[in-house]
Amino acid sequence: EEMILRRLTVLIISILMVFALLLAGCNTKSSDAGKGTSEKSNVVKVGTDAAYPPFEKQEGNGEITGFDVDILNAIAKAGGFTVQLQHTGWDPLFEGINSGNIDAGISAITITEDRKKKYDFSDPYFDAKQLILVPASSNIKSLQELKGKKIGVQSATTGETVVQEAFGKTYPNLKGYDDTPAAIEDLKLGRLDAVVADNGVVMEYVKKLGKDKFKIVEDPSFKPEQYGMIVKKGNAELLEKINAGLKKIREDGTYDNIYQKYFGK
Ligand code: ARG
Repeated sequence: EEMILRRLTVLIISILMVFALLLAGCNTKSSDAGKGTSEKSNVVKVGTDAAYPPFEKQEGNGEITGFDVDILNAIAKAGGFTVQLQHTGWDPLFEGINSGNIDAGISAITITEDRKKKYDFSDPYFDAKQLILVPASSNIKSLQELKGKKIGVQSATTGETVVQEAFGKTYPNLKGYDDTPAAIEDLKLGRLDAVVADNGVVMEYVKKLGKDKFKIVEDPSFKPEQYGMIVKKGNAELLEKINAGLKKIREDGTYDNIYQKYFGK
C-alpha cells in the first residue's frame, strides 16, 4: 500500500508540474500578447517645443505642424516606425528624454558638444545660425553694439549661449524666457532692445510682423549650427532607424520637397 501511495504522490506531483509548466507557458504567451498591444509601444514618443515657427507650432486645434513635423513623419515612414508627437515645451523635452517619458525629440535642436555629453544626436538634418531681431527703427548693427542693452532669448538655447559668450554668463540685461514667443512679445512691447534666436525663426517673425516694424541684424561671430534629433544616450536602435529614414528621404527627394515647402529654393 505504501508503494501505491508513493506512486500516487509522484503522479500528483508530476501532474502539478505539468500544470505549472502550462501556466508558465500561458504567462509568457500573455506577456507576448501584451507586447502585441504594446507593439504600440513600438510607437516612438517624440517631444517638441511647439512654439518655434516655422519648425514647430501648435495650430488652434492643438495640431502640431511645421518643417520638423513633416521631416519627422517622413523619417518615420521611411524608417518603418510610427511616431506620436507631443508638445512638451523646451526644458521638459530634455527632462522627458532623461526620465524615459519620451523616446526622442525634434525641436530645431542644435547639435552642441555640451548636449552630446548627455544625449545622442541623429545625423544633422538642417543648417542654421543665430540672428538678431531688432525694431525697424533700431540703429544696432552688430552683437557688440547690444552691450548694455536688454536682450531676450529663450533660456537654455544657443541664442542664450552666444549672448553669454559675448557679455558674460551673468550679463544683467539678458532676459531668459521659457519660450521664444514670450521674448518676441516683450520685444513688441518695447521691454527689450533685441531678441536672439535661430535664423529661420527670426526671418519668419519679420515676415509675420512686418518689415516696417522689425529687421534682422547678422553678426559674423555667429558660428554655423546644425539641427539633429535627440534620443536617450545609448538608444542606438532608435537612432539607427532615424538615421536610416533620414538617409532615405534625402536620397528620394522627400527632404527637398519639404525644404522647399517651407523655405523655397
Ligand atoms: N536651435 C536652438 C537650440 O538648439 C534653439 C532651438 C529652440 N527650439 C524650440 N523649439 N524652441 O538651442
